[in-house]
Amino acid sequence: MSSKIKTLKQITNKLYYQNNLDSKELLYLLNNINTEIKQDIIEKSNKTKINIYGNKIFMRGLIEFTNYCKKSCEYCGIRAQNKNIDRYRLSLDQILSCCEEGNKLGFKTFVLQGGEDSYYTDDKIVEIIQTIKKNYSDSAITLSIGEKSYDSYKNFFDAGADRYLLRHETASKELYDKFHKNSSFESRIKCLWNLKKIGFQVGAGFMIGLPGQSNEDLVKDVMFIKELQPHMVGIGPFIPHKDTSLRNNNSGTIDKTIIMLAIIRLFLPKVLLPATTALGSIDPLGREKGLQAGANVVMPNLSPTVVRDKYALYDGKICTGDEAAKCRTCIEDKINKAGFTIDMSRGDHISWKGR
Ligand code: 5AD
Ligand code: FES
Repeated sequence: MSSKIKTLKQITNKLYYQNNLDSKELLYLLNNINTEIKQDIIEKSNKTKINIYGNKIFMRGLIEFTNYCKKSCEYCGIRAQNKNIDRYRLSLDQILSCCEEGNKLGFKTFVLQGGEDSYYTDDKIVEIIQTIKKNYSDSAITLSIGEKSYDSYKNFFDAGADRYLLRHETASKELYDKFHKNSSFESRIKCLWNLKKIGFQVGAGFMIGLPGQSNEDLVKDVMFIKELQPHMVGIGPFIPHKDTSLRNNNSGTIDKTIIMLAIIRLFLPKVLLPATTALGSIDPLGREKGLQAGANVVMPNLSPTVVRDKYALYDGKICTGDEAAKCRTCIEDKINKAGFTIDMSRGDHISWKGR
């Protein structure tokens, strides 16, 4: 065995047994990873997940309720500057219909995701949360509506929202600033700490393969996650969108995304880790591969089919024409084929003690 492989094995063993590495070890791993070590990490990650959550995969119903957005994230297809998209907003009734459909299909978590859309004032969001909770009291609500003040987050939590997803996108301030003109890296990170303090189950997350992203940047992502200790981490490849300045860049790779999923599972063994739609969009078996590398959540779409293709954050998004019921059975099939079974319960983080 070459000394390099020996060192790499020592590093992956440390990661498996101690769920920790320092930045230098992690960077060495990322810089020198090969097929054998990749396989080794994937197996360790899968074992770690099974030890904690068994072979169950949690399901969430995703409702993309607005594609209006006041932000200008350079990579994102629904950025405010994009004049080529048809904007839509769902009414409370339309959102409730999605929940009704989701409830019939057995979902016990509704993820309300949207652009940063000022039309939905705090009062409107609170009304949406309270109405869903009134009708489906045994279901969890996850919000994913961007950066808000501490007080707004607190209002949402008090109204009954259980979880909040806010990807940090990249933990490199330089990269963050490059892709988010008029936004503040520090404010975004502060939001995540605020959400934790309020008591949400919190999801952070980042993209793989952003133009110019280095392994050093990915080390920063992992170190930030280690410090924040979120309950969920959303990781997906960057995929270019034709109406953005990044249109001619390459997507993040399936390999790198899988490696980062596995590493995050090993750093945070109990984390809720989705096999994302973006992962399924760059590779027909992307989500299956993610599930076999430590992911344990999938989020089929419940949005009405008439608006589906309008929530286009990147090109080539899968499932844009499919009915919710089709996605539900299609995903179940994929989960089974990957060697797992679906779990339709709320799927809280295993250490979650309730509100
Ligand atoms: N490629 C991949 N993921 C993207 N997102 C936004 N735009 C893209 C893109 N072009 C991700 C961001 C955001 C999440 C909802 O979708 O990480 O937080
Ligand atoms: Fe939507 Fe397969 S998950 S059709």
